[in-house]
Amino acid sequence: MNISTELTQEVFVTELLKQMTLDEKVGQLNQVGTSIYGGKEEHYEQLIRSSSVGSFLSIKEIEKANYLQHIAVNETRLGIPLLFAEDVVHGFLTTFPIPLAESCSWNTQLIKKTAEIAAEEAASAGIHWTFAPMIDVSRNPRWGRVAESFGEDTYLTAVFGSAKVKGFQGSLTGNGTLTEDHIIACAKHFVGYSEAEAGRDYNTVDLSWYKLANVYIPPFKRLVDEGVMSIMSSFNLLNGIPATTNKKLLIDILRKKLFYSEVLISDWNALKETVVHGFCRDDKEAVKKAVACQLDIDMSSLLYGTYLKGLVESNSIKEAEIDRAVRRVLSLKWRLGLFDNPYRSSAEKYKKIVDKTKEFRRTALEISEESIVLLKNDGLLPLKSTDKVGYAGIFLDDRQSMMDTWACKGDEKQIVTLAQAVENKQNKNYFLLQNAFRDFERTQTFSEETRSWVRHLDKVVLVLGEKATESGEAKSKAILSISKEQQNFIQALSQINQNIVVVLMNGRPLVLSAIIPYCKSIVEAWHLGCEAGSAILNILEGVVNPSGKLTMTFPRHEGQLPIYYNHYKTGRPYQADKFNTSRYIDLPNDPEFSFGYGLSYTDFALMNYEVKKLKKNQWEVSIDVVNTGEIEGKEVIQLYIGAQYGTYTRPMKELKGFKKINLKPNEKRKVVFNVNRDTFCYYDENLNELFDSGDYLIMVGNSSVIDEKNTKRIEVED
Ligand code: BGC
Repeated sequence: MNISTELTQEVFVTELLKQMTLDEKVGQLNQVGTSIYGGKEEHYEQLIRSSSVGSFLSIKEIEKANYLQHIAVNETRLGIPLLFAEDVVHGFLTTFPIPLAESCSWNTQLIKKTAEIAAEEAASAGIHWTFAPMIDVSRNPRWGRVAESFGEDTYLTAVFGSAKVKGFQGSLTGNGTLTEDHIIACAKHFVGYSEAEAGRDYNTVDLSWYKLANVYIPPFKRLVDEGVMSIMSSFNLLNGIPATTNKKLLIDILRKKLFYSEVLISDWNALKETVVHGFCRDDKEAVKKAVACQLDIDMSSLLYGTYLKGLVESNSIKEAEIDRAVRRVLSLKWRLGLFDNPYRSSAEKYKKIVDKTKEFRRTALEISEESIVLLKNDGLLPLKSTDKVGYAGIFLDDRQSMMDTWACKGDEKQIVTLAQAVENKQNKNYFLLQNAFRDFERTQTFSEETRSWVRHLDKVVLVLGEKATESGEAKSKAILSISKEQQNFIQALSQINQNIVVVLMNGRPLVLSAIIPYCKSIVEAWHLGCEAGSAILNILEGVVNPSGKLTMTFPRHEGQLPIYYNHYKTGRPYQADKFNTSRYIDLPNDPEFSFGYGLSYTDFALMNYEVKKLKKNQWEVSIDVVNTGEIEGKEVIQLYIGAQYGTYTRPMKELKGFKKINLKPNEKRKVVFNVNRDTFCYYDENLNELFDSGDYLIMVGNSSVIDEKNTKRIEVED
């Protein structure tokens, strides 16, 4: 191409663009997912040689990536390098907990660190671009993709999404390029995808623009402000128009209100699906509409490749519109340094990273331990060293179910199951009842031998939940309780021994009413990845004190859905015994386990709550936290506000800050939050910022259920 790479990004890209033919430009906007040609690689080579592709999805081997890159650089007229993309969601080689689990750690530093490691591993395999983080605020556990989310809260999703982007993209160098061990992040899915009606994946989304502006769009706004380099539009219909071709959404909001100027990519085949949605007349019209929405890259529908050139030649689309999109794609390539060095990694480098994964597992263990949430504990945990403990249950030794969805190159062989962790302990008081579940499933009873074993145990740990294949994309569920077989198993077992601890492995909040009466303790362990078993055992034994807090509400019953902590008030607030209030006649309104909730093996007392006005619209909110128990532990202190009235009604409570602190027994710490005018801002339906003076509640607690004594009313001035 003969252009100096010393030039600034802007000048370089402009010069390159001048040399490109229309065909070459169109090629840059075409992303090819490897499965669309049934994995037949001769197609890729041909596509590259004819400059018909700008990026690939799912090439995960460094040799293959470099081989294809070599063709792009040496066998095409301009030698423009390719981009390789992949869904690096919770680790690449080292499998970390699913995002929903990680979010329960409320540990922003660790959440960033796992993204950093994933980026380093992925970059060494030749990957440039991850389709993560998913920042769809998720309030419906029927939707399988809640596993990929950071839960139900807008503020938390923004904070953790931001940590992920910082981890993936790292700090840019002086001239704005990424360092070699970082990759481009992609905030997805814009927007509202998690609100699929009835929780059924890909289903219709019909949401008020007010709700979109205040619940679903703010995490995207934050990531745009902080420099996320790509965004993916969502599959769903949004208020009557597919998000992929929704002009109000993609132009008026994304480009004009959020000032987003980077690459926008469609979701897989979503462009073609705008026809299936019944919005575009045909594929050609879909392309016209998408270009008008500044959708820069078409992922895997091949429609841009098929129609763009003809549409420009027939003056239906201006070439300048194509140029703008190509410029954005080339800018990504420039910032990855690909024009200087198209091969950011090599087989040797990859090997070195593989060798480093031992070290990365320490972080996996740490985040796994912090992701676990203790939901119930009637005295069985932590296990005592003298306890005779039996371990059983369907997921006791199920490697796949510890990895879950989008596990990339995570290797099942590297997973430590609970069975394995128990075995490694060589504790003569621990007994693995490996076949107990399967035998029971077959015979619906326990053998005399199993009965006598179980009867003599002090405690039984059962690993229950849902399989990895039951959460993630296209894994919607109408029933959220664990399977009937597992319910029967625990019920039957509890007739022999009542000291049951349940360890749950699942990718979504479950309905637990069928098992709660049969167990004394419940440990929510999600799908934790490679160190799952070790982390769980450390929690069970009290080597680590649990500190996770739920980021999604657990309903009592599917009929309560959607259920989330920051709902609005009603004109007839809930009163359990008053008939014409907002309530169910067959269930309480409140959930089984609330957002922000999670137990510890120690106790924390919250005292001396103060809201001090410093000056106009500035407060210092503080509370003393004391560890009143006998062991060290971590607690998450949460700050909520509640607007009492305003231009629009606001939710009962909105999370606005949190601090995770570690306290030794008897240690006391003052936790301080600063509250100012910005804390109270929100948006109207056109994403204009709003601020209402008036009365607000300021609340601090260790879950979203807040003690009256830790609630104070303040007046916010104009
Ligand atoms: C998912 C996206 C993902 C893409 C590429 C789609 O089915 O919705 O989240 O990035 O596939 O794998």
